[in-house]
Amino acid sequence: MIYLNGKLMPIEEACIPVLDRGFIFGDGVYEVIPVYSRRPFRLTSHLLRLQHSLDGIHLKNPHCDKEWHDLIAQVIAGNDGDDQYLYLHITRGAAKRDHAFPHNVTPTVLIMSTPLLPPARELLVKGASAITASDNRWIRCDIKAISLLPNVLLRQMAVDVGAVETILLRDGFLTEGAASNIFLVKDSVLLAPPKSHLMLPGITYDVVLELAAANNVLHEVREISEDELRTAEEIMLTSSTKEIMAITRLDNKIVGDGEPGPLFTRLYQCYQHYKATVMRGELSC
Ligand code: PDD
Repeated sequence: MIYLNGKLMPIEEACIPVLDRGFIFGDGVYEVIPVYSRRPFRLTSHLLRLQHSLDGIHLKNPHCDKEWHDLIAQVIAGNDGDDQYLYLHITRGAAKRDHAFPHNVTPTVLIMSTPLLPPARELLVKGASAITASDNRWIRCDIKAISLLPNVLLRQMAVDVGAVETILLRDGFLTEGAASNIFLVKDSVLLAPPKSHLMLPGITYDVVLELAAANNVLHEVREISEDELRTAEEIMLTSSTKEIMAITRLDNKIVGDGEPGPLFTRLYQCYQHYKATVMRGELSC
């Protein structure tokens, strides 16, 4: 079951007009929210980031937080599986084709659910491979825009060579992955690039930094050079759908000793423990 513009319905019955600006211009924003044991994870942070994205494209939020909570609860209840991930898409709505914003148009609001499956065991045990590419996206990557063509092309580059992610470099510095944030380990210190307009402020990124602080993992948030990426002891990616995953090959070269490293293993365990606590309802989502 999906939610579209005020109604819950089977996805096969959902229709969007061809003149929807999401289709015509990619004029909209989205969010991805993991749901564990039917509880949306970090919902407040996701709704705050959604507001930031909407502000970034000058689109009024069509719902208050309470309405979002209710709609999200309805979609979760309407779908099988205790673990799901939700996509919220909001576009500027359907209007005569013109680049300039239309007046008095109702935004299109879509919420859909997909079963959330744990990553393949092999990826967790052996780690994944990634490639690098030049970050050729726009410079408002902090907006979670639905116009994702550069990200699509960049991630396909990885898929074409059997890798899981493309790690992006802009002007000699690490920004993020095509669909994830990137951390690395240098001299046993966890390093993360600082949030800026050049990367999406990941919710999982925040969780990992909070867990590092709470578990006495030495960490630093600062600019990371290409050379530091290429000589890292460990590399990891984070995202709502992949959680935290070790990258053990970069551009066909082994990272560290070629296996998921000690900091990854520690943070992975902390993440699972934290998630379990939230799922038991002992901590707020
Ligand atoms: N993508 N950077 C980019 C470009 C992303 O697309 C994503 C997530 C992230 C990680 O953000 P978070 O931890 O909040 O999921 C960083 C999602 C999963 C997607 O678009 O499907």
